[in-house]
Amino acid sequence: MTCSILVGGAWGDEGKGKCITYLCNNDKPSIIARAGVGPNAGHSVEFNGEKYGLRLTPSGFVHNGAKLMIGAGVLVNPDVLFKEFEDLKKYDVKGRMSVDPRCAIITEDHIAKDKSFEHLSKTIGSTGSGCGPANSDRVMRTIGLAKDVPELADYIEDVSLACNEAIDNGEDIFIEGSQGFSLSLYYGSYPYVTSKDTTASTFVADVGVGPTKVDEVINVFKSYISRVGEGPFPTEMTQEEAESKGLEEYGVVTGRRRRIGYFDMELAKESCRINGATQIALTCVDRLFDCARVQDYSELSAETKSFISDIEQETGVPVTIISTGPDLKDTIDLRKELL
Ligand code: GTP
Ligand code: IMP
Ligand code: MG
Repeated sequence: MTCSILVGGAWGDEGKGKCITYLCNNDKPSIIARAGVGPNAGHSVEFNGEKYGLRLTPSGFVHNGAKLMIGAGVLVNPDVLFKEFEDLKKYDVKGRMSVDPRCAIITEDHIAKDKSFEHLSKTIGSTGSGCGPANSDRVMRTIGLAKDVPELADYIEDVSLACNEAIDNGEDIFIEGSQGFSLSLYYGSYPYVTSKDTTASTFVADVGVGPTKVDEVINVFKSYISRVGEGPFPTEMTQEEAESKGLEEYGVVTGRRRRIGYFDMELAKESCRINGATQIALTCVDRLFDCARVQDYSELSAETKSFISDIEQETGVPVTIISTGPDLKDTIDLRKELL
């Protein structure tokens, strides 16, 4: 039995989508539960030559044998969820999805406020998905819950109960965090953050699993850093520099150009400490070093290996997953050797 949780190490978009898809396809957990803020997230999944952009569906959906769940702490926009049911028809996401009755519901009004309130849309640079105003209404105790939405009736299930029963039965479960450590309302670069804490402790609370049940906390870092929206970014490089290194990126939800920077060791140390990381997954190593599609650790250059061992030494956490391309095969999985 293993209860694993995966979290973003920096400002989101670390490549969690790829890592989750790889891990779920490989480890075959019985439940994949989505934690985090809500549909402000955008995860890219490439599987069998097709590319999907997800906002609410767990990125592990490609493992057909798993039940898919959205925990009570996550904000749900039913329109986003139903669109993903359509887009992912061939994976029967609809037939496998459960939504906790206590999820709070995003309305058009929340989205309109997110886009028109300049403090959010301009100063912070929010995603405009309604999450900030919805979490604000949740704190004010005025928001509607999933249990009261007739269109969601077929999907309502106590996610906490299902996850805990699976753990007690000795099954593997996988909890997907979204966003990233530096976007945490508590630990990120306030006020340039999202509308709740985004560390592992909150993600387990989101799905109603207690901290004593968690075995592995996998912290995902990209080999460089990206940030969308406003706020401090100590290791940021100029756009010209990012272009010359071929590191340009655009967001999945907003299409905005991402700011790019160098790997930040101080941030990595803090992120591992506060998340209680037991493993690191390092993505896009091929975009920083010349190792596209390498699947064997021994084939990495000395420079790449030294980058990886510096991260392990500084954070005290083993780098167990090394991603060298978008395809699931482009993954070096060292868990058997290192754990
Ligand atoms: P999360 O929000 O953390 O899930 O990341 P994301 O999915 O939002 O990241 P993004 O939208 O930037 O997508 C990353 C793109 O890079 C997707 O097309 C992925 O399939 C791809 N990708 C993921 N890992 C790697 C990698 O190791 N190397 C390369 N070259 N591409 C990758
Ligand atoms: P909000 O969560 O939409 O309120 O946006 C607040 C800040 O968090 C903005 O800088 C967003 O760009 C950022 N943000 C929220 N979710 C994500 C994500 O999944 N990836 C990257 N940035 C995010
Ligand atoms: Mg993303």
